[in-house]
Amino acid sequence: MPYPIQRPRRLRRTDALRSLVRETKLTRDDFVLPLFVCSGTKVRREISSMPGVFNLSVDETVEEVSRAFDIGVRSVILFGLPESKDETATGAYAEDGIVQRALRAIKKSTPDVIAMADTCLCEYTSHGHCGVVRDGDVVNDESLKLLAKTALSQAQAGADVVAPSSMMDGQVASIREALDTSGFEHIPIMAYAVKYASGFYGPFREAADSAPAFGDRRAYQMDPPNAREAMREAQLDYEEGADILMVKPATVYLDVLRMVRDRYDVPLAAYHVSGEYALIKAAAQRGWIDEQRVMLETLTSIKRAGADIILTYYARDAIKALE
Ligand code: PBG
Repeated sequence: MPYPIQRPRRLRRTDALRSLVRETKLTRDDFVLPLFVCSGTKVRREISSMPGVFNLSVDETVEEVSRAFDIGVRSVILFGLPESKDETATGAYAEDGIVQRALRAIKKSTPDVIAMADTCLCEYTSHGHCGVVRDGDVVNDESLKLLAKTALSQAQAGADVVAPSSMMDGQVASIREALDTSGFEHIPIMAYAVKYASGFYGPFREAADSAPAFGDRRAYQMDPPNAREAMREAQLDYEEGADILMVKPATVYLDVLRMVRDRYDVPLAAYHVSGEYALIKAAAQRGWIDEQRVMLETLTSIKRAGADIILTYYARDAIKALE
């Protein structure tokens, strides 16, 4: 047997060599930190299925954003837990809604942070669905009006980016129109274009108190086995004027992420969702895996598959680990 001429190990010999030839590098600019804003003051309530993640009152959210910004987190995305819910999700578009109040306070105290707002109705409806319910069905076009109203009120409160996540058909177009006709043509839309009906959202529904009271979300979120259909969803949102496309969840849909990356030349986001976070946390708490290592390997895989932007509850820890 002759010695091999090709020896890939040559470039793996030292840390410096490995770093020199590293193809994918995470940076602090990649991350968006999701936050859950609730009513009250001085509230800091840990979510049992998401250790390290809290429901925070507006004052605590402001503190949290400012601390996170200081360590390098440059973007946050806000979800709201309103004081009361109703059939038409009034809290989603109220001028003094929970997210609207948080946006104003954040932009005052940390003006340079990118404050994104998740635009959906499920946290604000009494039934927990992402749209208006009529005779047991989530009706599309009526929901669009409320989503457009919600996005507009978020922009008026200071949101730098709005992120529609309800999976209603035409949500990007109706939000774009509402923003453009009210002087917010400069506000980008990050569209949850490809969002699957996923079991990985379980812990989020505890965090955002948004589990549907009846049925499930399969009549509007995507069927997990479908990838071609994901291209159709991405195409529609792209045509409707989405500035950023998103695939969600991230790790079990890396194939879909890569397909969207290869077809669309707009920035691509991936949401490393609550259940993906909880799996790593739970195994780490039992001492079964090295949390930091698995976290970085996971986030790197998402970037390697094509994501430019990663929404993750690990944003802070990842940035700390990268220092
Ligand atoms: C709202 C929304 C959800 C998530 C983001 N926006 C929940 C859902 O669709 O049930 C999930 C985020 C996560 O699991 O971390 N529609």
